Amino acid sequence: MSNSQRTPNTATALITGANKGIGYETARRLGELGWHVFLGARDEVRGQEAAERLTAQGANVTFVPLDVTSDDSVAAAVEAVREHSDRLDVLVNNAGITGEQVGPMDQLITPEETLPQHLVPVLRVNVLGPVRVTHAFLPLLRAAEDPRVVMVSSGAGSLTVATDPERPESAVAHLMYPVSKAALNMLTVQYANGIPDVRFNLADPGFTATDLNHHQGTQTVTEGTDAIVAFATTSPGPTRQYSDRNGNVPW
Ligand SMILES: NC(=O)c1ccc[n+]([C@@H]2O[C@H](COP(=O)([O-])OP(=O)(O)OC[C@H]3O[C@@H](n4cnc5c(N)ncnc54)[C@H](OP(=O)(O)O)[C@@H]3O)[C@@H](O)[C@H]2O)c1
Repeated sequence: MSNSQRTPNTATALITGANKGIGYETARRLGELGWHVFLGARDEVRGQEAAERLTAQGANVTFVPLDVTSDDSVAAAVEAVREHSDRLDVLVNNAGITGEQVGPMDQLITPEETLPQHLVPVLRVNVLGPVRVTHAFLPLLRAAEDPRVVMVSSGAGSLTVATDPERPESAVAHLMYPVSKAALNMLTVQYANGIPDVRFNLADPGFTATDLNHHQGTQTVTEGTDAIVAFATTSPGPTRQYSDRNGNVPW
């Protein structure tokens, strides 16, 4: 695309895992605001269909094939975004899995049953994925005036919540998902400390009805994206914050 076809004043965002759930709703909401949304998805068909649905609603959405576990895929995603834009205002690291499928049907695998190899796929997507994607997109982010990265975490990553007897999370015993989100939280703090020219924040969607929890979540996807959209659109804004739609989440 030639420079004359670029739209320098349009805000740009890339969202990983945006073919469904919270990522898709984030893409829809930013698209509704007139942003150029790069809809990342690892599956060509699912991603293309999702982008076409939003385009049909009038949004400016470009599908970007992106598997957060693959160096080659992420490198190609950088080039795909670069074809349309010389900067990226917002990166939303949203793609995530629970890893519960390694347990028996509809039961989380217990800490006692968990082996190192059970943790690997979850950490690969939820922790190493954001590192891979963030590292690759830093040059495009740095070309923006107020670059920001929104990490999609969870209340399950909070040590304070997990050890508060008043909270239901303190009864959870699961080595994979909470560990991955706690790691993501610390990762984000360290990114914020080490890269002060880019803002890094953590959004906790809250318990939201999506495929991730077999639609048992009690919030709508719109409610589940409030904190993400707030971090994405607030400029100037904070760095190193951990918030849900109601305010700060205790670390
Ligand atoms: N729902 C909740 O209650 C809740 C609460 C707290 C935090 N969260 C967090 O919110 C984020 C989104 O979750 P969700 O509820 O929207 O779940 P979801 O509906 O299951 O969507 C997860 C998305 O991640 C994608 N994904 C998985 N592995 C990937 C990979 N290797 N590369 C790229 N994309 C990949 C999935 O793609 P496919 O369709 O191809 O599988 C899908 O698009 C996650 O980080 C999750 O931990 C959710």
